[in-house]
Amino acid sequence: MNLQAQSYPGIFITFEGIDGAGKSTHINHFARKLQEKYPNKKIILTREPGGTDLGEKLRTELLNQPMHPETEVLLMFAARREHLAQVIEPALMSGDIVISDRFTDSSFAYQCGGRGISVTQLNTLENWVQGRTINGQAYEIQPNKTFLFDLSVEIAQKRREQTRTPDKFEQLDTNFFNLVRNEYLRRAEVFQNRIKIIDASLSIDDIQKIMDLEVGLL
Ligand code: ADP
Ligand code: TYD
Repeated sequence: MNLQAQSYPGIFITFEGIDGAGKSTHINHFARKLQEKYPNKKIILTREPGGTDLGEKLRTELLNQPMHPETEVLLMFAARREHLAQVIEPALMSGDIVISDRFTDSSFAYQCGGRGISVTQLNTLENWVQGRTINGQAYEIQPNKTFLFDLSVEIAQKRREQTRTPDKFEQLDTNFFNLVRNEYLRRAEVFQNRIKIIDASLSIDDIQKIMDLEVGLL
């Protein structure tokens, strides 16, 4: 990957997928492997919604408090704006590597795909929150690489049931999660250069091997 591809020297990597697909299982190992490859680079592991004091407070509300779908998407982007300002942008400007457990693809998948918010509205929010002008040149802060952990809704639900008490999103039905998954897959088709689909039905060991190969490509 060309580290200078954006208007800043850092690398931005995101992990995505429906709840229970296996992002959290692989993100720490991936970060360790990347650190081994780039020993002199600072690696920041973060998450959305969250990643800042305010973002974590918004996360608690977003994951527990019922609210109007537009309130939900606005709070997701409010948390994201703070996350960009406090964590992501300073790191990318300093040449660090940022790995985030979820970013804007989650908003398209859950709020557009799942909740039915229009893509036009989401595009407006994305452009507002991620749009920047540096030296007169306009661009959007976007992940350089996104790993989409893709898994059937039924298997993901079984995995979740074995390990955790469901939050507000995890209580939603199969229909909701199929819409979310389909929107993720639609975006993977549109952004083929950025989004790499990981077959999350493979064993943890096999996925780890795939992720190790991906580290080699970065
Ligand atoms: P996410 O962060 O995407 O919600 P997790 O990483 O928390 O998902 O995984 C959900 C559950 O599924 C965990 O109990 C985890 O151990 C298990 N799990 C993750 N990946 C696999 C896999 N490839 N095969 C079987 N179980 C898995
Ligand atoms: P996640 O971070 O995956 O939590 P866990 O560690 O419990 O799996 O979950 C955060 C939830 O927030 C998840 O259900 C997806 C949802 N979400 C959105 O709906 N929109 C967004 O923009 C983001 C970032 C997350």
